[in-house]
Amino acid sequence: PLFSKTFSDSKRFITDPPPSDGLLSTLRGIFSSALYATFPEAPTLGISIMVTQTKDPKNGEYQCNNAMELFKKLPKPNAFKAPRDVAVALTSGIKHPLIEKLDVAGPGFINITLSTTFLTDKLKNLVVAGDPRPSKPSTTPRKVVVDFSSPNIAKDMHVGHLRSTIIGESVCRILEYTHHPTDRVNHVGDWGTQFGMLIQYLLETFPKIAEGDMTGVDIKDLTAFYKAAKIKFDEDEIFKKVAQQNVVKLQGGDEQCRKIWQLLCDISRNEFEKVYKRLGVTVTECGESFYNEMIPGVIEELTSLNMVVPDGGAKCIFVPEYRIPLMVQKSDGGFGYDSTDMAAISYRLRKLQAGQVVYITDFTQSDHFMMIFDAAKKAGWWNTTSHKITHIGFGTVCGEDGKRFKTRSGDTVRLVDLLDESVRRMEESLLERNKEGKGSIPEGEIRSTAEKIGYGAIKYFDLSRNPTSNYIFSYDAMLDTRGNTGVYLMFAKARLGSIINKAREAGVDVADLEKAGGLELDLGHVTERSLAIEILKFPDVLENVLEALAPHKVCEYLYNMSLVATSFVTECRIMENGVPNKSRLLLCSIAANVMQACFHLLSIECPDRI
Ligand code: ARG
Repeated sequence: PLFSKTFSDSKRFITDPPPSDGLLSTLRGIFSSALYATFPEAPTLGISIMVTQTKDPKNGEYQCNNAMELFKKLPKPNAFKAPRDVAVALTSGIKHPLIEKLDVAGPGFINITLSTTFLTDKLKNLVVAGDPRPSKPSTTPRKVVVDFSSPNIAKDMHVGHLRSTIIGESVCRILEYTHHPTDRVNHVGDWGTQFGMLIQYLLETFPKIAEGDMTGVDIKDLTAFYKAAKIKFDEDEIFKKVAQQNVVKLQGGDEQCRKIWQLLCDISRNEFEKVYKRLGVTVTECGESFYNEMIPGVIEELTSLNMVVPDGGAKCIFVPEYRIPLMVQKSDGGFGYDSTDMAAISYRLRKLQAGQVVYITDFTQSDHFMMIFDAAKKAGWWNTTSHKITHIGFGTVCGEDGKRFKTRSGDTVRLVDLLDESVRRMEESLLERNKEGKGSIPEGEIRSTAEKIGYGAIKYFDLSRNPTSNYIFSYDAMLDTRGNTGVYLMFAKARLGSIINKAREAGVDVADLEKAGGLELDLGHVTERSLAIEILKFPDVLENVLEALAPHKVCEYLYNMSLVATSFVTECRIMENGVPNKSRLLLCSIAANVMQACFHLLSIECPDRI
C-alpha cells in the first residue's frame, strides 16, 4: 500500500500551533460554540461542526450542513419537526462581525454570507503587516527533525532522491514559516557494505595509496568507478572476500580504510552540494556513520529490555505482523541499515529532544520504518501521546511507458542530467519567444530566468500531487504555459507584478500606499470579493498544510489563487485612463504577496518578469 502517515495516539501536540484566525477556522469556532450552547448533548452524539466553502457564492460564501445529521441523531421526542427547525435553532443565537447574514435553505442548509466590512478590515490588517506570515506563537514549539534527501555515497542521486529532496525542503519551509524550529538532516548512506569493494578497488587502481600517498587520486566519475568495482566484486571471489573484510576493518576504525572512505565521501559530498545549490536546498549532513559508536550501547539497552532475539548468529527484533525482523546486528558482527536507524531514532527523540521526527523516502521503505517506530515505542523512547513520528512514503517516478523512469539504455536517470534538460528546453523556448518578438527578457537574463523556471517547473510538477501517487515524468507537461503547471503560475504572478510596475510608472507606488495608511478598499465587483476571500483563506490553508505536512495543498491553493487573481485582473481595470485604481492596486499587491509566500513554501524562485 502507498501511504504517508503520522503516528500518534492523541490528536493535538505541543508542536501544533493553535487554530488560525482564517475564515474557515473562525466560522468553525462560531458554529461549534453555537452547537454546544443550543444542543449540549451534541458531543455525546458524535457530532462535530462542518463548514465548507460553497461552489457558487450566489447563496452565500460558506455553508454549514449539520442540521440534517443533528435532526436524525437528537434524542426523541424533541421540539423539532424537521431539519429546518434545527437549522433555525442553531443559527438563532449566532452574532459575529464576520457574518453578514445566515439563511436557512432547502431541507436545512445554512448559507453564510460574509460581512464586507469584516473582510476589508482583515485585508487592511494584512496590508499594514506587509507580510501574510502568521505571527510568532508565545511559546516556541518543540523541534522537528526532518530526515530527507539522504542519497548514498559513491552513487548518483536519482529521481527518487529528487523527490525526497524537493518534498523535504518544502516540508521544512512549511514548518519554519509557521515558526517551528527544524533540524534538516541528510542521513546519507556513508556506511554501507559498498565501501568494502570501493576501498579495495581504489587500492588496486591507485597502489600508492597504501603508502599514504593520495596524490594523483582523481575520480571524476564516481558512478563509473562504482560500476567497475561492482563488476569485479561480482566476478572475482578473492576480491569479494577482501572487500568484505574491509567493511569490518572500516567499521572497526582501521586508519587506512578510514582515510580512503573519507576521500570517497568528500568526492560525493561535492557532487551532492552542487545539486543542492542549484535547487536552493539546505540540508545538514549527519550520515549513517555518525551513529556507529552509539550502536553497541543501543543494542545493549534493547537487550536488557528483552527485545533482542538471537537468530542464526544475528541479533533481531521481531515486530508483530511483520515476517522479517529488524536485524540490529548481523551474524558477522557488522551493523546495517536497521542498526543505524535504531540508533538514529533514539538519538533524535532522546538526545535532540525532538517533538516530531519526519522521514521522507520512497514508499518501499514503509515496512522498515513501521518496524523501527514500533521498536522505539516498545523501548519507551517514543512517547506516543506527546511526540509525533511521520513517514512520508512517496510513489515512483515513471517514464512515458508507465514503468520506472530509466534512460534509453536502461540506466537510472541522473538527477543532474534531468535538471540540465529542463533548463535547456526552457532556455530554447525563451530565445524562441524573443526571436518572435514576444519575449521581454533581455539576452543577458535568459539563462538565469530559464534556470528559475526550469527548476521551478520540475519542483511544482512533483510537489503538486499527493506524494503517495506515482507520476509520469514529462518535460512537455511540466513546461506547459497553460493548465496547472509551475510555468503557468509564474506567468500569473508576473502579470500581477507587471501591473504593479505600470502603476508605479504612472506615479502610484503601491509600497507608498501601504505605508500611507487610511486605506480604502472596495470589494464591489464579484471578482474583487472572490479574490479577497481567497487571500483570507491563507491562514486556513497553512493550518491544514501544517497538520498534514502536505506541500500539494499549497499547490492546490496557489493554483486556485492564480485563477481567481487572473479573472480579477481580466475583469477589473486597474489602470483607468492611465490612472491606477488604488483599491484594486492594493488587492493586486496583497495577492502577489500571498502567492510569493506560497512560492517560497514550495522553494520555487519566481522570476520578476517572463
Ligand atoms: N539512503 C537511503 C536511500 O537512499 C535513505 C535514508 C533515509 N533515512 C533513514 N533514516 N533511513 O534509500
